[in-house]
Order: sequence, then C-alpha cells, then structure tokens
Amino acid sequence: MSKRSVVRSLSFYFKRATVVHAEFGLWELIMRLLRRLGFEDRQLAAWRKQKMEADAEFDRRFGTDTGGVQNLADEEGIVGENAKHGLAHIATDPAQFRQIMDTLDLPLSEFAFIDLGCGKGRALVLAAQYPFRSIIGVDFVPSFVEAARNNVSVAAAQGLRRDIQVVVGDATQFILPSGAALVYLYNPFDSHIVRKVALHVRASYESDRRPVIIVYSNPIHMLEFTSCGWQLVTKGSGWVALNCVA
Ligand SMILES: C[S@@+](CC[C@H](N)C(=O)[O-])C[C@H]1O[C@@H](n2cnc3c(N)ncnc32)[C@H](O)[C@@H]1O
Repeated sequence: MSKRSVVRSLSFYFKRATVVHAEFGLWELIMRLLRRLGFEDRQLAAWRKQKMEADAEFDRRFGTDTGGVQNLADEEGIVGENAKHGLAHIATDPAQFRQIMDTLDLPLSEFAFIDLGCGKGRALVLAAQYPFRSIIGVDFVPSFVEAARNNVSVAAAQGLRRDIQVVVGDATQFILPSGAALVYLYNPFDSHIVRKVALHVRASYESDRRPVIIVYSNPIHMLEFTSCGWQLVTKGSGWVALNCVA
C-alpha cells in the first residue's frame, strides 16, 4: 500500500469516526472499531459466513463479481462531498430482493428501477429479471460503477437484458427520469444523506406528480422519510416501501 493510500484511508476513517460519534455516540463508535479490528460476536460472524456463501452462489450462477464487503476507505476518486456519509459496499440479498418484487403490487413495466448506491450492480442484475421500463444504477465510487457495468454485461451474455445504464454520481444530485419510478436503496448511506435523498426525491415528485416508490432495505433511517412526507405502503422482513403523501 502506498503512503498516499494509507493517508487517504486514515483520513477517511477519521472523518467517518466523527460522523458515527455524532450520530450514535462513543459506545457505538468503540463497538464498530472493535468489529473493524476483527472482534465480531457470534451472530455477526454467522451472518457474514452465510452472506459470503450467498454471494458466491449468486456470482457462480451469473458469472459476475458482485459480492464481498468493500470499505469506502479503500476506494479512490469518490465524487462529491459525501464520502464520509457513505456505507461500505455489501450486495443485496437475492432472496430478499425477490421477496420484495413478489410483494409489491405494481405494474413493473411502467416503472423505471433506479438503484441509488448501486455498488457493483447486484441489484441491477436482479432487476434485469423483471420487466422494468428501464434500469439505472448510480454510485459515487468510479471503480464500483466500472464493476457494475462489467457485471451487467456479463449477465447479459447469460440472456439478461443489456439496456442498463450505470452512472458515476452522488445520490443526492441524481435527476430522476420522468414517468413512474421505483427508487431502490440497500442501506447505502447514513441519516444525513437519507434525509437529503428523501427531500430530493420528494421534490422530483412535487414537480412531476407520478407514482414514485422508495424501496428501502435495512431501513435504519426510515424516520428521515416519514418525517418529510413519505408514508409506508408495505413492508417485509428487513425492508419497507414508501410513497409520497400528496
Ligand atoms: C450497501 S452498498 C449497496 C449496493 C447495491 N445497491 C446492491 O444492492 O447490491 C451501498 C453503496 O452505496 C454507495 N454510496 C454511498 N453513498 C453514496 C452517495 N452519496 N452517492 C452514491 N452512492 C453512494 C456506496 O459506494 C456503495 O456502493
């Protein structure tokens, strides 16, 4: 690791630590540091093992590389000012994604699917198995976007659709397409950015009233939505769907 990368990582960890401390307090910061150093409780270790197996199975099936945990501290060239509010890359659980799609009672072919914080594109490959009007992924880490583009094209070679757009950008700046939209969030950022996204997507809805649904998986900061005019439509194990109250 070069000196420059070490300095970049340390600076990232320091900024992230100040954010975690402000949001959750000292105890949570210490617990996270311990976990980062490899001290995991049994429950977390079991979850990690099961996740690694599910990742490997998905990637074997599609020939992709969507799995693993990638910390933002190790990534170069993150665009915008929000790196310290972003969470590590972990890919969507395929079983949960299918459960979400089976539960939502929506005419999917009318909806654009937009993954804000698409990482290496797991959810895009999953969405490609449903009849969405269009599919778009956005991530602020250029190397993740490159990986997602590659994964989408590898999956297309297996027969999935290839008309998927993946762009480098900050979720708080992304301009939603017109027409019905399903915005997908797999716990990508902290409360600060969740609130900005909640307001930003709401503003898009206000300027063009069409069906806009947020699917928020692992919805730790759901309050940021409900406190600014979003309401619960339905929920399942570890996820919620919300829409805007007119
Ligand atoms: C938990 S991963 C989700 C990956 C993907 N959505 C999936 O379901 O497989 C969170 C992703 O959000 C991205 N992210 C975090 N903050 C972001 C921001 N402000 N703008 C764009 N992407 C962001 C990270 O780079 C990371 O790839």
